[in-house]
Amino acid sequence: MSGSLSRPHVLVMSEITVDGKLTLKQGASSKILMKYMDPKTELLLHRTRAEYDAIMVGSTTIRIDNSMLTVRLVEGESPIRVIPNSRADIPLDANVMGGDAPTIIAVARTASPENILKMKEKGVDVVVAGESHVDYPLLMHILRTEYGVEKLMVEGGPTLNYYMLKNDLVDEVRLIHLPFIVGGADTPSLVGGMHIDSEDEMFRLVLKKHYTCGSNLVTEYDVLTRGLDV
Ligand SMILES: NC(=O)c1ccc[n+]([C@@H]2O[C@H](COP(=O)([O-])OP(=O)(O)OC[C@H]3O[C@@H](n4cnc5c(N)ncnc54)[C@H](OP(=O)(O)O)[C@@H]3O)[C@@H](O)[C@H]2O)c1
Repeated sequence: MSGSLSRPHVLVMSEITVDGKLTLKQGASSKILMKYMDPKTELLLHRTRAEYDAIMVGSTTIRIDNSMLTVRLVEGESPIRVIPNSRADIPLDANVMGGDAPTIIAVARTASPENILKMKEKGVDVVVAGESHVDYPLLMHILRTEYGVEKLMVEGGPTLNYYMLKNDLVDEVRLIHLPFIVGGADTPSLVGGMHIDSEDEMFRLVLKKHYTCGSNLVTEYDVLTRGLDV
């Protein structure tokens, strides 16, 4: 693990097309693609959720996909749902605001106190982690020390994956490969954010396992520690 703050072990898990995309086009829900996942792979996804203490997705994914992030297809407890949302402005009727599982909304100090209050009234925990944007190393530290989260699963989207990688907070990547090509230069892919300028900035991974789950190929990688500061 990098950095001085303690944090959970972090897995990024994603469904991905042959051309590395996470959805059909900008603004489209990944649930459209997920419908084509083999039923056995859906079970794998839910089994993995049940093995983790917490699950995190980005606020844009909540707006577009309205994800539930619960364990439904296998026996097991749903993980704590964590949504980084600096302005505390995701819809109050989003599925993650419901009582199916505990939810933490991570906000910045600049978030509207009224919005925070309304969120708390829905029964979710609101954690301040960062000044004007969510500070991911700090959020990870809070999850580890205040919520006892030892294992965190990140289910995207690309912008959140970028911030987690950029801050050297990802230990493993697990991909469910879907046999489709969707194309589109601006279609969200596994990692968004800013491009890199040289090969020194590449994140380096080691393939540790590959197998089929029903008709889907699944690959598992370890992320190598970078010697670079972010
Ligand atoms: N195939 C799959 O497995 C999969 C999984 C998930 C999502 N998706 C797809 O991905 C798409 C959405 O992805 P997305 O990349 O647009 O959004 P996203 O990653 O879901 O959300 C963006 C996240 O980045 C944070 N962020 C943005 N700027 C930041 C900054 N400067 N500092 C810190 N945090 C910052 C946002 O927090 P703030 O609220 O604080 O800005 C938000 O939580 C959707 O189409 C969805 O269907 C696919």
